[in-house]
Amino acid sequence: MNYILILHYSRHGATAAMARQIARGVEEMDGMEARLRTVPEVSTTCEAVDPAVPDEGAPYASLDDLRDCAGLALGSPTRFGNMAAAMKHFIDSSSRLWISGALIGKPAGVFTSTSSMHGGQETTLTSMMMPLLHHGMLLVGLPYSENDLMHTQSGGTPYGPSHFAGSDSKLPLSDEEQRLCRALGRRLALTALKLA
Ligand SMILES: Cc1cc2nc3c(=O)[nH]c(=O)nc-3n(C[C@H](O)[C@H](O)[C@H](O)COP(=O)(O)O)c2cc1C
Repeated sequence: MNYILILHYSRHGATAAMARQIARGVEEMDGMEARLRTVPEVSTTCEAVDPAVPDEGAPYASLDDLRDCAGLALGSPTRFGNMAAAMKHFIDSSSRLWISGALIGKPAGVFTSTSSMHGGQETTLTSMMMPLLHHGMLLVGLPYSENDLMHTQSGGTPYGPSHFAGSDSKLPLSDEEQRLCRALGRRLALTALKLA
């Protein structure tokens, strides 16, 4: 199956809402499917033993989900200007794929949600790109032909879609944010199809 893996972590639902919009964009392209997967929480003291299937939302990702994808959208809430530990923990478990070069040449994009407008969207997005470059992935952002980049009053960056969730993290995705998420999904799917 040809799929874009939409690998995300979300505690309060904002990043998960972005992931669903990206999935819609992917599935607008014939010949490509979206696979939504999440990662478990990490414990401060030791590995927590969670049920294999989370109570709600997307299933947990396996390294095989990552190995076999045609492309990747990687999403995390901003935590102190960086990705959440849960996502970093999963990425740090991917050495086997790095050694085999499984992700080399595949397209990848990144997305994030913050509670404050200038609280680190760009830093989080660019920091998520670093491990993907180490894996040899081809980074895909958003071009300014997406008019929403010029007019958004909330999230949306050329480095990837973003969402301003507000101090209580409850603001819904704006129309611009939704469209930019779908644009990333379409772009990843189209790039993966062209590369194939
Ligand atoms: C430990 C921690 C650190 C955070 N750091 C930032 C930050 O640096 N900048 C910011 O704007 N929001 C920060 N937030 C807020 C989250 O990024 C924001 O609530 C986000 O929308 C949550 O996404 P989610 O609904 O997918 O969990 C932080 C939240 C937590 C719990």
